[in-house]
Amino acid sequence: MSDESILLSSLETFYNEGLITDVLDIVKRGKEATVYCCQAHPSTGTKFLAAKIYRPRQFRSFKNDAVYQEGRVILDKRLRRAVKKKTRKGRAVQFTSWVEHEFQTLNLLHAAGADVPRPIAQSGSAILMEYVGDYQLPAPMLKNVSLEPDEAHPLFDLLMGNVELWLACNIVHADLSAFNILYWKGDLKIIDFPQAVDPRLNPSAFPLLSRDIDNLCRYFARYGVHANPSGLAGELWTQFLRAEL
Ligand SMILES: Nc1ncnc2c1ncn2[C@@H]1O[C@H](COP(=O)(O)OP(=O)(O)O)[C@@H](O)[C@H]1O
Ligand SMILES: [Mg+2]
Repeated sequence: MSDESILLSSLETFYNEGLITDVLDIVKRGKEATVYCCQAHPSTGTKFLAAKIYRPRQFRSFKNDAVYQEGRVILDKRLRRAVKKKTRKGRAVQFTSWVEHEFQTLNLLHAAGADVPRPIAQSGSAILMEYVGDYQLPAPMLKNVSLEPDEAHPLFDLLMGNVELWLACNIVHADLSAFNILYWKGDLKIIDFPQAVDPRLNPSAFPLLSRDIDNLCRYFARYGVHANPSGLAGELWTQFLRAEL
């Protein structure tokens, strides 16, 4: 089977479950995953859905896995041992855990009111979610957008509001940048959560949070948004530690 047909076979479950009726287009072939635009089944109440399919494990290369995996809990004792020993089974569990982790994180954040795509279903290495954009016109990454002068401040505030809400939900994105934010008709959706960490458990959470906020501040600086990234990160972190969020 070709790389492409392996990827597409993961969509069969969504088709069989009556969630999608067709696969229309590739939206983007990313580093770790390929995203497809699918025709949604009318019962989903929407026209299109995005299917993010992770590459088969052997073609993927999550950088620095350990930093992000720290603090993740695998309840099954035997599986935990397999992951530790990096057996075949262990590596498979670890891979599935990236996909499941992204889906669970989207569920939690969407329910909390965060600006993330609505998650619909997960199956194997694929996640089905709200599609941001129009047919053959997927929403661009914020990085490729020219904002109007009066848009920048409110959008920066919206993103910082999200970072704060996620932290209150015990989540740090940990790969936040203008690459992982989609812009559509003046609004934003934040995507790409597999590496998100739990700040209660992960000892790198504060540096990761600081880097996320720094990336946002750098991007918005070109639009005259003056912010103090280390001050903002420190303030949020203090509130988090005092359980004031
Ligand atoms: N829900 C979505 N709607 C529209 N396009 C999406 C959606 N999710 C992802 N994309 C597109 O696919 C690209 C890759 O998705 P992403 O989750 O960032 O994975 P990765 O960067 O790991 O490959 C994004 O940059 C975006 O262009
Ligand atoms: Mg991405």
